[in-house]
Amino acid sequence: MEFYQLIRQRESVRDYDPERKVRREIIERILEAGRLAPSAANRQPWTFIVVSTPEILNKVKTCYHRDWFKNAPHILIVAGRKEESWVRSYDSYNAIETDLTIAMDHMILAAENEGIGTCWIAAFNPALLRDALQLEDDEVVFAITPLGYQSTGYVKKSVKTRKELKDIVLYL
Ligand SMILES: Cc1cc2nc3c(=O)[nH]c(=O)nc-3n(C[C@H](O)[C@H](O)[C@H](O)COP(=O)(O)O)c2cc1C
Repeated sequence: MEFYQLIRQRESVRDYDPERKVRREIIERILEAGRLAPSAANRQPWTFIVVSTPEILNKVKTCYHRDWFKNAPHILIVAGRKEESWVRSYDSYNAIETDLTIAMDHMILAAENEGIGTCWIAAFNPALLRDALQLEDDEVVFAITPLGYQSTGYVKKSVKTRKELKDIVLYL
């Protein structure tokens, strides 16, 4: 798909068909987009977790209480370790959140290209997510997303509500 068309049409999907699983080769192409994402000093401090097993899905779903989330057939989690990411020497800024966010964004755009819906979710309960995935103490997660097909009858939002360029850009 043409790139600008893709970013125009991507939207957060909050209506999934629980019965329609995403084929493994499609999931792998999406993961490959994350693998190719840039990271500070190329540290790649991440793990991509795809949850599709009903028992683990049910556990993960306790971390975010929305009815639509219960219908997600797969959930993608980007986890990472601060100890593995690059740190700026001047002020100790650690790039972990930036790295994991870029990887997630690459995968969200790749999913759109595959016709797979996603919704960036940050408002999950981290303790419940950690418990569901048995994450190690040093692993962090900033965002998760469902991966799935929109349910039948899903209607795309017709407009994107965004600030105008003139209100957010400075040419100096
Ligand atoms: C960092 C971040 C956190 C978000 N957290 C949530 C969330 O917890 N739940 C949710 O439904 N949407 C969440 N969203 C989705 C935004 O609400 C959505 O991207 C925004 O309203 C623009 O709509 P669009 O994605 O359809 O273009 C989040 C998006 C970002 C970037």
